[in-house]
Amino acid sequence: MTKLTIVAFDGTRFELDVDPGSTVMENAVRNSVPGIEAECGGACACATCHVYVDEAWTEKVGPPAAMEEDMLDFAVDVRPTSRLSCQIKIKADLDGLVVNVPERQA
Ligand code: FES
Repeated sequence: MTKLTIVAFDGTRFELDVDPGSTVMENAVRNSVPGIEAECGGACACATCHVYVDEAWTEKVGPPAAMEEDMLDFAVDVRPTSRLSCQIKIKADLDGLVVNVPERQA
């Protein structure tokens, strides 16, 4: 188990114990975090699972792959820390990861 914190737009912190190999999006949906719609179910085809990676973690999480980068064009208020949460896989060195949910997805 590793720790994952997802901060909803209203500031509510969801502090979760999550399985390596799962994605940030899957854990958000499983725990009913508001603001993560994930309409395509994790296929990198909708951009409604957009999050901002906490600045302390951006380097470790790394940049989006080309396909994700293209899909991020459809997200709202994209920033340098933007990622699609279905494309962030939990692994041991992301223990303690913090991501923030944007105000809206579309
Ligand atoms: Fe659709 Fe992430 S769930 S792009």
